[in-house]
Amino acid sequence: MRFLIKNSRIIDPSRNFDEPGDILIEDGKVKDIGKNINLEADKIIEASGKIAMPGLVDMHVHLREPGREDKETVESGTRAAAKGGVTSVLAMPNTEPAIDCADSIERIKRISEERAKINVFIAAAITKGRAGRELTDIKKFKNLGVVAVTDDGSSVDDASLMLQAFSAAGKERILVICHCEDRKLSAAGQVNKGLTSTRMGLRGICRESEYSRVKRDIELSAKAGSRVHIAHVSCRESIEIIAKAKKKGINVTAETAPHYFSFNENEVTGFDTNKKMNPPLRSQDDVLSLKQALAEGVIDVVASDHAPHTENEKDVEFDKAAFGVTGLETELSACIELVEEGRLDWLKLSRLIAYNPASILGINKGSLRPGSDADIILVDADKKWQVARGNFVSKSKNSCFIGSTLKGVVEYTILDGRIIYEAGLQGKK
Ligand code: DOR
Ligand code: ZN
Repeated sequence: MRFLIKNSRIIDPSRNFDEPGDILIEDGKVKDIGKNINLEADKIIEASGKIAMPGLVDMHVHLREPGREDKETVESGTRAAAKGGVTSVLAMPNTEPAIDCADSIERIKRISEERAKINVFIAAAITKGRAGRELTDIKKFKNLGVVAVTDDGSSVDDASLMLQAFSAAGKERILVICHCEDRKLSAAGQVNKGLTSTRMGLRGICRESEYSRVKRDIELSAKAGSRVHIAHVSCRESIEIIAKAKKKGINVTAETAPHYFSFNENEVTGFDTNKKMNPPLRSQDDVLSLKQALAEGVIDVVASDHAPHTENEKDVEFDKAAFGVTGLETELSACIELVEEGRLDWLKLSRLIAYNPASILGINKGSLRPGSDADIILVDADKKWQVARGNFVSKSKNSCFIGSTLKGVVEYTILDGRIIYEAGLQGKK
């Protein structure tokens, strides 16, 4: 099977390539990139005016299977991903039961092989049942194909257990991803602590609850000589701690999610539960610090933290609503906004959403180098769209972008050289 994409602007972050040209795909791989490739092909897409770049590698996605198939399934979540231009996800282990042993890992692998529309990589839990008491059998995980461990949704409070986790994961070269939250400090908080929590009459989640844990986990990882990846950074102090650690040569990487740089805490004062997540939306100063950290490379990755919840869990009083927002179908557009603002160019953007997460996870994705898997998206970067509940492919509709007008539409998502999503053909593929 030979497939040719003609005349797009090609962005390959793996070799700082940003030029117009043609992409030749053969047998699922990028075969050649060049000007005027004029060969016979089984399929040709004329893509002038479009951007071709590696599909997104989203390293923070809650697919909810097994256990909460009412919120999302591997099938629905990966279909939503394809629409958003995401061709690989890292599935978080806070399922029911948690992905914490060989059996549950094998099970989610089987489900993914049968039903996933895109590549699903697996993160397993750090502690059994994510209860923070007993380590999982991390040394067995590598052979099972696990690429990272995390108790995401909560933090491991016991520092000595966390140190053991870093040592075990370090030996196996498995990435440790840290949800940084000191629950003694964030206890029962609902929104950012300060004027917002006071105005709303709700308990606040203080910034210290995040950054004190960022600091602790970086120190522990350095002590164990292993790598650490900080999930969903929301505030300036965390950025400063990460920047300092990087300067010292500590092996730390970090991610943030689009909602943290697209909205500030004022959005939540109308009690919209689709703006409720953990960590919470912070101040405008934090929003600007995050944008700067993305531009400067202090934060390495944008990941969605796609956290689907049912209407039953969101359409309730604010303090009873579940934490989390969906993100797979809006993340690319939210990031394009940073290009529009002049903070990022397309190469930097593509590094943040594809190349960097792939290298951090040690997976062979996020590149258009000849020989790589043809996981490619074609984007109309100028096209605007209105985000509405009815747009979503995800089973859950709890997006904080509902009502926004965004720029950037994925026209095609290609996985292993096959078109798996085409705009306008929704539901027909
Ligand atoms: O808002 C959040 N939702 N934060 C997390 O850490 C977990 C996530 C979820 O699983 O719903
Ligand atoms: Zn988390």
